[in-house]
Amino acid sequence: MDNAIEVSNLTKYYGKLLAVDHVSFEVKSGEVFGFLGPNGAGKTTTLRMLTGLTKPTSGAAAVAGFDILRESTTAKEHIGLVPEVSNLYDEMSAWDNLIFAAQLYGVPKKEREKRTKESLELFGLYERRRDHVGNFSKGMKRRLTIAAALIHKPAIFFLDEPTTGLDVQSSRMIRNLIKELNEGGATIFLTTHYIEEADQLCQRVAIINQGKIVALDNPEKLKATVEEHRIIEVSFSPAQEFTSQLKELRFVSHVSRVGDKLRLYVEDVSEVVPIIIDFARKKRLKVVSINTLKPSLEDAFAKITGLSPEVMATEKEPVKKEGGGSG
Ligand SMILES: Nc1ncnc2c1ncn2[C@@H]1O[C@H](COP(=O)(O)OP(=O)(O)OP(=O)(O)O)[C@@H](O)[C@H]1O
Ligand SMILES: [Mg+2]
Repeated sequence: MDNAIEVSNLTKYYGKLLAVDHVSFEVKSGEVFGFLGPNGAGKTTTLRMLTGLTKPTSGAAAVAGFDILRESTTAKEHIGLVPEVSNLYDEMSAWDNLIFAAQLYGVPKKEREKRTKESLELFGLYERRRDHVGNFSKGMKRRLTIAAALIHKPAIFFLDEPTTGLDVQSSRMIRNLIKELNEGGATIFLTTHYIEEADQLCQRVAIINQGKIVALDNPEKLKATVEEHRIIEVSFSPAQEFTSQLKELRFVSHVSRVGDKLRLYVEDVSEVVPIIIDFARKKRLKVVSINTLKPSLEDAFAKITGLSPEVMATEKEPVKKEGGGSG
């Protein structure tokens, strides 16, 4: 099977609110596919439709080759879901949670304990297997949620903002796990509002805004849409306010300050570098560092959506437990 997920004109209204607006895309088998967008863009709603938690208003989709409406039970056997809010039982131990998940997903009885043990070891939680999950840290809980979603060895994973609200170290660990799963052959569909995360993990990224896919490509191609900007970052010693003077230089279209560095948006890097060196010599300044920067996925995001990348960086409200699936 070439495509793990196929989506055609998928649409969801909540009353009058159009949450997902005719989205169409394919996720290739073995791919890490990212859904990148700001709060309320429709990421979770799309993921919930694809995993059978809520019904689309119109449109169609197939997961692992099975229609999400007509064959949803079979489709579910092939998927692992890591929701944004943990679906674990706080009052049960880590061990019991995984055994329970294994039961739920139909893992044969003989296999359950073996898989649970392997899984706890893989996720670095074996020592804590007897502890109640309610006492786990956020990062540990997220890892265990992923472990539970893996227990039946599904081929396709859906992860809803897997690293939101986690510290740097836990986030890195989870990103590495996602990479390992993918290297093991799994297809990954993840939602995120971290541009950096999409860039690091995803082979292709769909940018979603107000329910619509506004761009879909690999991160490098998305970045290439803003390639006309070339950027030189330079710092001088002693550091002074040179912004307006640098703006006057040839081939420099814009200058901004980033910390102790000056960022020059230029037409031609090779022309401007000697001009900067010359500028420093005349002013008796030392060039502490000088680098050329490539446009980031953040730049591309800003250009494509017209949104400031800051809207993506805003930390979310603490998430509440979701109710049951709505029709
Ligand atoms: N159960 C629901 N009932 C009514 N409206 C909903 C429901 N779930 C989501 N919405 C609305 O649908 C839109 C899309 O929400 P969704 O949760 O899919 O966004 P998101 O991209 O996942 O955002 P976030 O980054 O905040 O998680 C929002 O306007 C939201 O308020
Ligand atoms: Mg969401």
